[in-house]
Amino acid sequence: MSADTVKVTIQPYGRRIEVRRGTDLLEAVRLAGIIIRSVCGGKGDCGKCKVIVRSGEVKHDYDPKSKLLTPDELSSGYVLACQARVLTDCEVFIPPETRVEAQKIQMDVLLPRISPDPAVKKVYIPSDEVVGGGLADAVGRRLGVPVEVEPEAAREAGELAIESPSGLTAVVNVHDGARAFAVEEGDTRTRAYGLAVDIGTTKIVVYLVDLVTGRILGSASDYNAQIAYGEDVVSRIAYAMDVRDGLKVLQRAVVETINRLASKLASEHGISTSEIYDVCVGGNTVMTYLFVGRDPSPLLETKVKVEIPREPFIERAADLGLEVNRGASVYCLPSAGRFLGGDAVGDILVSGMYRSSDVSLLIDIGTNVEVVLGCDAWLLSTTAAAGPAFEGWGVRYGMRAITGAIDSVKIDPETLKASYTVIGNVKPRGICGSGLIDLLSEMFRHGIIDTLGKINRKLSSPYIREGIDGYEYVVVPREEAGIDSDIVITEKDIANLIDAKSAACAAVAVLMKKMKLGVDDIGNVYICGAFGRYINPNSAMAIGLIPEFTRAKITYIGNGSVGGAYLTLVSRRYREDAVKVAKMITYYDLLKDADFMDEYLAGFVLPGKKELFPTWWEASRKKRRQLTS
Ligand code: FES
Repeated sequence: MSADTVKVTIQPYGRRIEVRRGTDLLEAVRLAGIIIRSVCGGKGDCGKCKVIVRSGEVKHDYDPKSKLLTPDELSSGYVLACQARVLTDCEVFIPPETRVEAQKIQMDVLLPRISPDPAVKKVYIPSDEVVGGGLADAVGRRLGVPVEVEPEAAREAGELAIESPSGLTAVVNVHDGARAFAVEEGDTRTRAYGLAVDIGTTKIVVYLVDLVTGRILGSASDYNAQIAYGEDVVSRIAYAMDVRDGLKVLQRAVVETINRLASKLASEHGISTSEIYDVCVGGNTVMTYLFVGRDPSPLLETKVKVEIPREPFIERAADLGLEVNRGASVYCLPSAGRFLGGDAVGDILVSGMYRSSDVSLLIDIGTNVEVVLGCDAWLLSTTAAAGPAFEGWGVRYGMRAITGAIDSVKIDPETLKASYTVIGNVKPRGICGSGLIDLLSEMFRHGIIDTLGKINRKLSSPYIREGIDGYEYVVVPREEAGIDSDIVITEKDIANLIDAKSAACAAVAVLMKKMKLGVDDIGNVYICGAFGRYINPNSAMAIGLIPEFTRAKITYIGNGSVGGAYLTLVSRRYREDAVKVAKMITYYDLLKDADFMDEYLAGFVLPGKKELFPTWWEASRKKRRQLTS
């Protein structure tokens, strides 16, 4: 060990890593191959990267005024990993609430029935035909279009035609012209595979698809390895811009994750990765730019209007580093704007709302809330910065939907004690988005909070008390919890959640208002996104996260991003639809709208405006009168 390096032991993983003296603990942990929570990407703002220094010396740059650590935590050796620089050999412990473990990853999607017509075709040619007239002519005659043959494929075809009596199969990409990019010995027409990929900011989902039958053979998912460089898109853009080779590092990170998942799936299904001839990808605009190695900095531009090409990026898989057939292409679902990426286009494709004359609403609750309203004649969309609170930001015991997160809550109206379910059936460590929505709605229904989200001080209950941030409700007493404290929700947390839900609901309300539509006019509501599937729509309406649609059919479409990638992988018509949808959407900027503030502020009185909650508004007031009389 040189004088400039120190050893950091990371528990409970038992890993040891040597780093330069002065390295921050977040980086040391990352270098040891361990992912911990770091919502703000190491800026010292989120307080999620808490670790305990058990021995050794660190320099902790921490401002107590931020209150990101409680006095108890500070006296127990807690530090913010991103703000603590190692000075000597040390041992740190990652507490349960900081660890990132198997997330409940969204892999399922409700797909429409389709007949496969992929962009990759296989054409069988007898050897003598190739020897006689050449590959391009033979393939072109069968497909009825002129075919361009790549030099490598032409050379192999020449050799195979002479050496092999069993003929050969040409692999042709017919998206936008016909390009024969590979040849195989014999008749291999029944073996053709592709990948549908969702590149999420947090996780990546890959489907292995049989291009001949359209069947999804298997799916795999993992964290997007970019997470180690910041949890949200803004931190990733900052990394790509500020760090030398940052863009390359991020591009490689995402490609490595996809390669790992693809090779796992291929070997599970007895397929060679060279039999993967096509890849379709859905992702938000930033993820798509980073994946293809484009400079994402214009996406941060707020002063000038940035035009995003509403066309798909089509790249060579090999140029991006993807380990599939060397001639395979990558098709990225087109983005419709800075804030509306291929993932949103995928949601719309899966929902089919662009083909129906009935007006539908699609809502995707992730880091942001994306809303699309429309039908076959028009599509209007917007986004609101509403999601982070539901992913744990600004909520003391908020966390993502990972093992140990409470994902649903009921409160006993007599005892006011909460019962709950926990992901992974372990002791709870915090509460994820769907749990927070349930919790808030239960507290409102049972009079624990009033219409302004204030905890009812008159209720005498062991679960209601005053804490360091004002009044709080005890969801899980310490003895039941998987962490060393009670799990509570504070008035401050509730205020943050109400703020987030008001922004989401206002986004929906503004679009409805623009089109002069009321809650009775909406025929379908499609809920998608990271945790959309687990949201109880009754709870979402009870707290005013979404309006109380009186006649709409509610459908969970799941992960529309991978769904859209799948549809464009197996059907050329969906590729045309994707471009049509991307061009059809009008993005509406809420910040420029005078009504938005009005609608947003109205949401601060639960559940929200009377016209958006025709039944529940009245019922909730009546109930409250009974509870307080
Ligand atoms: Fe350390 Fe946010 S405070 S990552």
